[in-house]
Amino acid sequence: MHKICVIPGDGVGPEVTDSALTILECLDVPLSIEKTQVGLESYERSGAYLTDGALEMASEADAILFGSLTTPRDPNYVSPLLLMRWNLDLYANVRPARCLNPEFCLSPLDVIIVRENTEGLYGAVERELDDGKIVTERTLSEDGCKRIVEFAFKYTIARKRKKVSCIHKANVLRTSDEMFRKLFYGSAVNYAFYEKIKSDDYLVDATAMYLAKEPERFDVIVTLNLYGDILSDEAAGLTGGLGFAPSANIGDEHALFEPIHGSAPDIANMDIANPTGSILSAAMMLDHLGFLDRAQMIHDAINLVYSDKNRWTKDIGGRCGTEEFTWHVKNEIEKMAAVR
Ligand code: IPM
Ligand code: MG
Repeated sequence: MHKICVIPGDGVGPEVTDSALTILECLDVPLSIEKTQVGLESYERSGAYLTDGALEMASEADAILFGSLTTPRDPNYVSPLLLMRWNLDLYANVRPARCLNPEFCLSPLDVIIVRENTEGLYGAVERELDDGKIVTERTLSEDGCKRIVEFAFKYTIARKRKKVSCIHKANVLRTSDEMFRKLFYGSAVNYAFYEKIKSDDYLVDATAMYLAKEPERFDVIVTLNLYGDILSDEAAGLTGGLGFAPSANIGDEHALFEPIHGSAPDIANMDIANPTGSILSAAMMLDHLGFLDRAQMIHDAINLVYSDKNRWTKDIGGRCGTEEFTWHVKNEIEKMAAVR
C-alpha cells in the first residue's frame, strides 16, 4: 500500500484533484489516501497557510498529489508550494508538454522540461539600498547545478529520450549561467560516451522562440528555476493551454505531483476547469511509484478522449465540463481494463 497525501488547495484545485482521484480509483491501485488543507482557505481560517501537521503528513507520504493554490499579495504569506519544495528538497521539477491533438495545439510539441526547483531567483532575497535601488539576489550552487543536470540525463535515459538541451543566459550571466553550462557539458560527455545521449545548449530567449517555431529541436530541456517556470508556461500554452500540463516535483526522499496551472478563482466551482493536467500528474505519480502500465493506461485514455471533439473541454472549444470529461477518461480506462 502506498501512502498518498492529497492537498487539493484553492480555487479549481479541489475540482481537478477530484478528477485525478476518480481516475486513480478506477485503476484499482493499492493507494491509501489522506487529505489535508493547505493554502489560502486554511490561512483565512487559522492564520496558517502550511501547518506543521500538513507538512508532516506530506513528508511521511510516499507521494503528494497537489491541486493548485492562490497566492495573495499579503507580504506575510509565503507560497506553501515553495515551502514544500524547499522543506522536502524537491529539487527537480519535471514538466512534460505534449501536443495531444494538432487541431488545438499552436505547435507540435513533445518536450520534457526539467527545471531546477530550489535555487536561483526563487530565494526571493531582495533588499533596498540607501539610494532607493533594489537588489535581488540569485543563488546558484555547483552542487545544485550538478544534481539537476544529472537528474535530467538519468530521466532522459529512463524515458528513452535521446537528447538533453541546456537552457541558460550565459552570454550575459557569464559567471553563474556559464558555470551551469560548463557543468552540463561535464556530465554530457559521460552520457554521450556510455549512453549515446546527445546534448546541446541554447540561450533562453532563443529557446522561447524555437519552442514556438521549431519545436522539433527539443527533446529534454534542463534549465534554471525561473527560466523553467516561464518556458513551461509557454510550452503548455503551445499545446493548448495551462490546463494540459502536468508536473512532478522530485527529490531524493519525496515527490509532489501537480498540474502547473494556478487556482483560477474566476472559474472555480463552475465545472469548467480542464482537469487534464491534474489527471496527467496522477499518471506521473503512478509512474514514479512504479505502476508503469497503469500510468500508460491514463495516457492512452487521454489520447483517445482527445481524438474526439465531442469529448473536449470548453477551454479548447469543446462542450464538456470537468466532470463529464473525467467520466470519458474513466470510461476509456474501464473499456481497456475489460479487454485485458
Ligand atoms: C509554478 C508556479 C509557482 C512557481 C508559483 C505559484 C510560486 O508558477 O509552479 O510554476 O513560480 O514556481
Ligand atoms: Mg509557473
